[in-house]
Amino acid sequence: MKKKIKSFPLIHPTTIGIVGTSYNDSFNFTTIGDIAVAGLNPPLVMVSLNINHLATEYILASNRLSLNMPTKDMLSFVDYCGIHSGRDVDKSSIEPFEVMSGLPILKRAPIALIIQVVHTYQHKQRFICICEVEETHIDEELLENGKLNLSNLEMVLYGLDNHYYTSGEIIGEGYKVGKE
Ligand SMILES: Cc1cc2nc3c(=O)[nH]c(=O)nc-3n(C[C@H](O)[C@H](O)[C@H](O)COP(=O)(O)O)c2cc1C
Repeated sequence: MKKKIKSFPLIHPTTIGIVGTSYNDSFNFTTIGDIAVAGLNPPLVMVSLNINHLATEYILASNRLSLNMPTKDMLSFVDYCGIHSGRDVDKSSIEPFEVMSGLPILKRAPIALIIQVVHTYQHKQRFICICEVEETHIDEELLENGKLNLSNLEMVLYGLDNHYYTSGEIIGEGYKVGKE
């Protein structure tokens, strides 16, 4: 039997991303769990940020961000970027990155998107952005004969029980297992 608990956006797990922003030659990284694919064609993602974050200030100034998808070996950097604000510490001095199209891309993250904000909406203290993906950069090991192979990736996932999880187990093929 199920039990009704307090209203909670309990989608489990969510995928952790690290938002990369830049402003006037300075770079910042911010951990977020409130991200989602918003469509494949056109390629859209949704990110939701607190209005007081430095990331939000930089995005409002430029309308652009990078979304870096970290793996479990990056966990301490992930958590660090979610504990400290770029207003207090220089998060760009810790982890190697390169600049692509003006935005910081983390070298260790196997997947990084360059995205353009196309719609924003503020609800209470939240700044919600719908963004179009301009560029998708992936480690070349993820391509097998030109096809994406994501099976070995151990991404950082997050649960609202405040634990990090990881991915990697294939349990079936999409648009196929339902036919069997
Ligand atoms: C696991 C985790 C997930 C987080 N998810 C979000 C999120 O989805 N949106 C958000 O605004 N802040 C989120 N945060 C908090 C920000 O990362 C944190 O407040 C950060 O210090 C803001 O940095 P900035 O001021 O440099 O942008 C998360 C933190 C952690 C540890």
